[in-house]
Amino acid sequence: MGCLNGISLICIVLCVSSIPSVVFVYASFLPQDQFFIDCGGSKAMEFGDGRVFQPDSGNPYVTLSSQGHTAVSDHETSLSNHSNLYASAQVFRETSSYTVNTKQIGRHWLRLHFYPFENPKFNLKSAVFSVVANGITLLHGFSFSEVGKTSHLVKEYVFEVDGTSSKKLVLTLSPWNGSIAFINGIEVVSVPAGQFPSTKVMPVPLGPAVDVPKHVTFETAYRINMGGQHITPKNDSLWRTWDPDHAFLVNAAAARNVTANPSRIKYSDGVSVEIAPNWVYATAQEMADAQVSNQKFNISWAFEVEHGFSYLIRLHFCDIVSVALNRLVFNVYINQQSALDYFDISSRTMALSAAYFIDFVTNISMGSNRILVQVGPPMLRDLPSNAILNGLEIMKMSNHRDSLHANLPGNHKMDTRSPAGKKKWMLLAISSSAAGFVVLVLMSAAFYLYWRKIHQKKLKPQCSAWMSLPSHLGISDSKVSICSYDSTAHSLSLGRILAFSEVREATKNFDKSLVLGVGGFGKVYRGVLENGTVVAVKRGNPRSQQGLTEFRTEIDMLSKLRHRHLVSLIGYCEELNEMILVYEYMAKGPLRNHLYGSNLSPLSWKHRLEICIGAAKGLHYLHTGAAESIIHRDVKTTNILLDESLTAKVADFGLSKLGPTLDQTHVSTAVKGSFGYLDPDYYRRQKLTEKSDVYSFGVVLLEVLCARPPINPALPREQVNIAEWAMSWQKKGRLEKIIDPHLGGHVNLESLRKFGETAEKCLAEYGVDRPTMGDVLWNLEYVLQLQEASIQTVSSENSANYVPYTPEWLPQMSDQESDATSSAVFSELLDPRGR
Ligand SMILES: *[C@@H]1O[C@H](CO)[C@@H](O)[C@H](O)[C@H]1NC(C)=O
Ligand SMILES: *[C@@H]1O[C@H](CO)[C@@H](O)[C@H](O)[C@H]1NC(C)=O
Ligand SMILES: *[C@@H]1O[C@H](CO)[C@@H](O)[C@H](O)[C@H]1NC(C)=O
Repeated sequence: MGCLNGISLICIVLCVSSIPSVVFVYASFLPQDQFFIDCGGSKAMEFGDGRVFQPDSGNPYVTLSSQGHTAVSDHETSLSNHSNLYASAQVFRETSSYTVNTKQIGRHWLRLHFYPFENPKFNLKSAVFSVVANGITLLHGFSFSEVGKTSHLVKEYVFEVDGTSSKKLVLTLSPWNGSIAFINGIEVVSVPAGQFPSTKVMPVPLGPAVDVPKHVTFETAYRINMGGQHITPKNDSLWRTWDPDHAFLVNAAAARNVTANPSRIKYSDGVSVEIAPNWVYATAQEMADAQVSNQKFNISWAFEVEHGFSYLIRLHFCDIVSVALNRLVFNVYINQQSALDYFDISSRTMALSAAYFIDFVTNISMGSNRILVQVGPPMLRDLPSNAILNGLEIMKMSNHRDSLHANLPGNHKMDTRSPAGKKKWMLLAISSSAAGFVVLVLMSAAFYLYWRKIHQKKLKPQCSAWMSLPSHLGISDSKVSICSYDSTAHSLSLGRILAFSEVREATKNFDKSLVLGVGGFGKVYRGVLENGTVVAVKRGNPRSQQGLTEFRTEIDMLSKLRHRHLVSLIGYCEELNEMILVYEYMAKGPLRNHLYGSNLSPLSWKHRLEICIGAAKGLHYLHTGAAESIIHRDVKTTNILLDESLTAKVADFGLSKLGPTLDQTHVSTAVKGSFGYLDPDYYRRQKLTEKSDVYSFGVVLLEVLCARPPINPALPREQVNIAEWAMSWQKKGRLEKIIDPHLGGHVNLESLRKFGETAEKCLAEYGVDRPTMGDVLWNLEYVLQLQEASIQTVSSENSANYVPYTPEWLPQMSDQESDATSSAVFSELLDPRGR
């Protein structure tokens, strides 16, 4: 693996080292050529973003050569004062050309505007025509009705005006047999020098850098602002449009948007606002927190493209998520091929929040029609797992027939590049001599080793700092104790204040070997009090302000409550900046560990039902038993703990809130809780009721049944979210297909059906449609009765009432998938992080 990485890295070094030297962009670019033509229009029209469209007649830079053209306008719209480019058009019955005399040679943006408005003279919607610019076919047999768009359409290209065409752009529109052609607007704008590459672009799959011939015309296929909003031409100095990325995310649950203040974005070294506006760099998608401590998955975007063409892929990066340099290292894949390995933006920019971009070229071969862009963490163990992408441009490149369209007349098969063309392409690519290459390889290898060394050095202290809590607490002194724990007092009374010295003694000075788990709040230790009571000691991180609020909430709540199915608070300590909670010890730990991700033996269906019933009793008591209703807010399998005899108790009240009082039906509050368990109704309305706990409990029921985490991004898309996945099977009445295989042969089908129904009701979209915890409890008891009754009458004859041993889906799972789920992801769940 190390060797492979080395090789890819060398390729990257080769590629990157050449980019800054060819890309040179002025910060405040003033295009020499700016032509905005309103076809068929009659008066100048301001767009409000710096663009002023002039009518095509009487324009000194533009000539229209044609035998049969007619200007038409949409009278209703043009009568209103509102200026509208799409309210007029030039319509052609014969092949006609616009000639634009540019001031400059070189690359230009070309934007064509189309909108087939209703008018009495022509049916623009049914027009079929082709458009060619300086000999390059842009559109062929184009018909608006096939685009499937109801609003206007803007086609955007980048093409070269070269010396031989004597600084002219000739745009020819040709109607097809008996049809007409039309156009509403044309824009021609100079592209800053170096904006588009002409040399040394890395191909994917990686190989020698390739040159992009100047006459290649690009068509914008996608321009995406990751994690951000639609950016209109008004907010882009080159009048480009950037779309949000939601629609292209393969698995939205894997990504989380991040936003920085756009004014903080730094531009340097060949990157300017002309490459992309700061609004693009100020937002990104990063990896969502899947609640696994060492998460490994990719964020993926898929884009539909046309096969047989090459595409230029420009990735925009800006590290707006790190707090220090060299903390964010990730891989980038294009169509499942490595593009960037161990990519560290800050090693290129030497700064955070600094804009950076990189280009690749990829061929879409026959039979494929998509570009898949993925970012994900490398397999290195000592790096925090994250990956980002801020922006992405995908540009289609004209082929060797000078066309952006595969179906040209006389071109019977839709073939790709001809062998000769391909050869020429590859020859252009090889740019460095063999000797130069060897030198570069050696340099790169040395650089790579050096780079790894630096990184390991830099990362280690940070990682270990993250792992251990500050040790300044050793100076504490038992003399300061506020009140000492009365060991003779009945230990089931309200939480006591404990002296820090006592807690320290109980945990052998917070011995590492006694750590039971690490949560968001801090570490949990096993301890033994002086009177022999075994306890769980939760020691908060002293610096966390949020921790303090949760600490107080928990003491408040637990001091008021006492129930067989709630974990009891034995005492607490709030001394010397310490926040320590001492609970009854739950010997068998969190329910989750008994379901998946550890080597514990699987629980029987009966035990699982009893545990669910116990937890439901605890929650029912919270909602109704105390003087005031209490909403737990963080119901999940790591907060349901089991004691020696597998009795379930609900724990972790840090987020709990008092429920609504009589004259109020909800508590309005900021959304908190855990990924995968969050009630969509609460999320939408930001109004908390007991029914949010019911929703989360529904997710718990499914986890218990299927023995998998609520969200597992490593699974195929439709399976990622347990609630969606299980409910799709429940609706088909085939829930048994996806249950934990360990339950096979033991679950009575009737009881399973009832269980599935109960979970489904808990997961109802709207809180009002969900049952109360009391109803859930009653239903689960009924499920248990059904199961028990069937066992008493079980015989070989009625084994048909049982779920078969092997669910059908099991053999279909590929090795890779089962590996990913059972080891890579699940093993990380062993450590139950609080939130
Ligand atoms: C970012 O994510 C939040 C919550 O997931 C969502 O509400 C918001 O619309 C997203 N913003 C953008 C710009 O996509
Ligand atoms: C566009 O730019 C204006 C300022 O010119 C700013 O207020 C606005 O938020 C920007 N919008 C987006 C989506 O970039
Ligand atoms: C990310 O995607 C690439 C290419 O598709 C794949 O090789 C890699 O294993 C994926 N990484 C993870 C962690 O799933």
